[in-house]
Amino acid sequence: MRSDIVRPVRLADYRPPDYLVDTVHLDIALDGAATRVVATLAVRPNPKGRSGAALELDGDALTFVRAEIDGAAPAPETYAAASDGFTLHRPPQRPFVLTIETRLDPASNTQLMGLYRTASCTCTQCEAEGFRRITYFLDRPDVLAVYTTRIEADKAEAPVLLANGNRIEAGDLPGGRHYAVWHDPFPKPSYLFAMVAGDLAHVADEFVTASGRRVRLEIHVEPGKEGRCAYAMDALKRSMRWDEEAFGREYDLDVFMIVAVSDFNMGAMENKGLNVFNDKYVLASPETATDLDYANIEAIIAHEYFHNWTGNRITCRDWFQLCLKEGLTVFRDQEFSSDQRSRAVKRIIDVRNLRSQQFAEDAGPLAHPVRPELYNEINNFYTATVYEKGAEVVRMLKALIGDAAFRAGMDLYFRRHDGEAVTIEDFIACFAETGGRDLGQFMLWYRQSGTPEVKATGQWDAKTRTYRLELAQTIPPTPGQPSKEPMVIPVRLGLVGASGDLPLRLAGRPFDGIVALTEPSRTYVFEGVRERPVPSLLRGFSAPVKLVHELEEADLLTLFERDSDPFNRWQAAQSYATGLILRAVRKPDLPIDARFVAAIGTFLDDARRDPAFAALTLTLPSETDIAREIGVNVDPDAIFAGRQALRGAIGRALHGQLMRLREELAGAGPYSPDAAGAGRRALRNAALYLACGSGRAEVLAAVARQFAAADNMTDRHAALSILTLSDVPEAEPALQSFYERYRDDPLVIDKWLMVQAQIPTTGTLDRVKRLMGHPAFSIGNPNRVRALIGAFCSGNPTQFNRADGEGFRFLAAVVLDIDGKNPQLAARLVSALRSWRSLEPVRREHAGAALRGLAEAPSLSRDVSDIVGRALA
Ligand code: ARG
Ligand code: ZN
Repeated sequence: MRSDIVRPVRLADYRPPDYLVDTVHLDIALDGAATRVVATLAVRPNPKGRSGAALELDGDALTFVRAEIDGAAPAPETYAAASDGFTLHRPPQRPFVLTIETRLDPASNTQLMGLYRTASCTCTQCEAEGFRRITYFLDRPDVLAVYTTRIEADKAEAPVLLANGNRIEAGDLPGGRHYAVWHDPFPKPSYLFAMVAGDLAHVADEFVTASGRRVRLEIHVEPGKEGRCAYAMDALKRSMRWDEEAFGREYDLDVFMIVAVSDFNMGAMENKGLNVFNDKYVLASPETATDLDYANIEAIIAHEYFHNWTGNRITCRDWFQLCLKEGLTVFRDQEFSSDQRSRAVKRIIDVRNLRSQQFAEDAGPLAHPVRPELYNEINNFYTATVYEKGAEVVRMLKALIGDAAFRAGMDLYFRRHDGEAVTIEDFIACFAETGGRDLGQFMLWYRQSGTPEVKATGQWDAKTRTYRLELAQTIPPTPGQPSKEPMVIPVRLGLVGASGDLPLRLAGRPFDGIVALTEPSRTYVFEGVRERPVPSLLRGFSAPVKLVHELEEADLLTLFERDSDPFNRWQAAQSYATGLILRAVRKPDLPIDARFVAAIGTFLDDARRDPAFAALTLTLPSETDIAREIGVNVDPDAIFAGRQALRGAIGRALHGQLMRLREELAGAGPYSPDAAGAGRRALRNAALYLACGSGRAEVLAAVARQFAAADNMTDRHAALSILTLSDVPEAEPALQSFYERYRDDPLVIDKWLMVQAQIPTTGTLDRVKRLMGHPAFSIGNPNRVRALIGAFCSGNPTQFNRADGEGFRFLAAVVLDIDGKNPQLAARLVSALRSWRSLEPVRREHAGAALRGLAEAPSLSRDVSDIVGRALA
């Protein structure tokens, strides 16, 4: 893990492996600190590799015990075994069996990569390079093997023994021990290996596939938590059905298992037949989970399940192709959620997230292409760019070639590459074929980083009844990419007249609603335009670009009220509000534009028609959104004040109407996490938040009542947030009672930590430091760390970016501490500084100093030094 010389890995250097492994037989005997792993590998020279090459197996922090080749000990000079690798200098140039025994101690594994202990079990996380922490191996995704796993453990300590595939044998052993043997018939790369052994309870169900096969479903959790699995199980069954219907994909093993663990670096992991989840994305009950938690559970259960085809059956040739499985699988889970809930609402939520995470990444020093060409540490590339922009690229592909050709391309991809480890080129070739077009320029979406800017200028000519729309694209320079080529950008658009969308002709034909901009700039002349229209551009956010237009506020109001595209209705309100906040930031003394407030008032009259959409419309642009819009010399305090000014103006003018709306939407029966119920709660709470901007006592009293009387976590948590973030006297007693009520429930206590970390006042840093000493906090648990420290650094712009630099120094100190235990987690925290260069000079200087301090720290992990190095470059 510690390495002074960081050798970057380059896509251009890819070579096929010199050896292949056809079968892996793992014998894992759990025995505390002396856990024994015997790996038996059927190795053969790869006809596509270099003949006679040494066999170099990866290893990381392993203790070597012995090796055998075809059952005999090799001479000492023929091999080298170290903690970080095993080399056979002259391996047989024919198939042979290599047996290696190692020892390890799962309990001392604080990195949570490889085999490690969590509350009630021993489990694994192998992606990306954790398998080499279990045994020596060709730990790369293009080496596919059939795995058989025998696990042996103390029966009382670990009554449940799980691994990939189907269980083929189990039994008792002397000395209170027992064993199980699992066999996974599908060849897979080592990153998809998993095993779990522990004292777990489970709920079971069954799914019958489209072709009538019965699949047993199991969700394993800490004993006592079985009652919180129902929603995850339901989401799993809906995912399985959806993948059959939407993509023709059936499940392929007899059993599908999910294990929820409380120590996990990421969200979840798609190991073949045995998904391991952060328990945050499995466990839910109305009393403990918010609507957002439910939606996340649904999406992540689906995401990991969908990986079975996009990731597992067809995997990545190398880690540069990570978006092949991640971008595509995010696209699939987003489509699933859209079909299960509201497509328009889901799109807005996804775009909001894309802009706040990915656009920010793309605009700073950590920008990288969807398919990077170089990395120092692959774990640092599980990013918003690979995942979320990767999904946008797939969505654009679909928009460009059409639904039918897209589906045919997916079918072809599954048919042609099942069982293989492939590249983005292989994937795109399928769509070039079914779409009947050259996708050479499209490949730039994978190679060029940075968010393209599309500038639109339009002109209506009353005489010729034409509308000339010029679209021009530019792509800003990004690290390593000073100049860019024009991309192919699908722009969905329409022209909106007095009574809605105008029928249009383009180049003599009825316009189908989408153009593909391929040149630096191009002018489109729409015909038959009888009135001055307002252009509605980038409908549905048809490309991950920054749209720059010349719409005036009256035009935005037209779109807000009349656009047929719900995304652009929402966008118009957001753009208007953004403009107002920007004005308030620059000229704090000017009053807020009453026309916008009036429009919101009118909108409220009708808000009940689509509560979820209305809630999003009433959610003001975030401080981060505004910071991104400003781009340089950012002063988070001024942004906070500007945003509060708009909130206050709306609250003062509309509190009566907002509170009435909230009343009208109240209590429609017992809590249900479905989209309709969630939408109503979201709207009620958005209204409450805005009304609270008025500062009126009766509104605050209503929030306090909601906190006390709520029958579900969504409403209770919303009220707690409003009270806490408003820094009112009612906040402390609410925090106190929340803690007392949920003190034994770590996932709920995370919400308590998080809301305190986000209080936008100067006492918060001290509060966060104090909470680090609270019994509820643990620096070793990623969920706790993200809830407290992550929320402070990434979710509290004014306090993290304190002008005195204390926030940055705090982050640096915590990162150093965590880096010694869990480098992946530490590196994630540092990325809170990814936009440091856009801060105003005083804060920028402090942030830079904190980064430089980190860079100089001795024995930094590769993970953190990579992020720090790139942030400073
Ligand atoms: N493949 C997992 C997913 O579904 C993410 C695992 C990433 N883990 C890591 N240590 N980098 O997105
Ligand atoms: Zn994934």
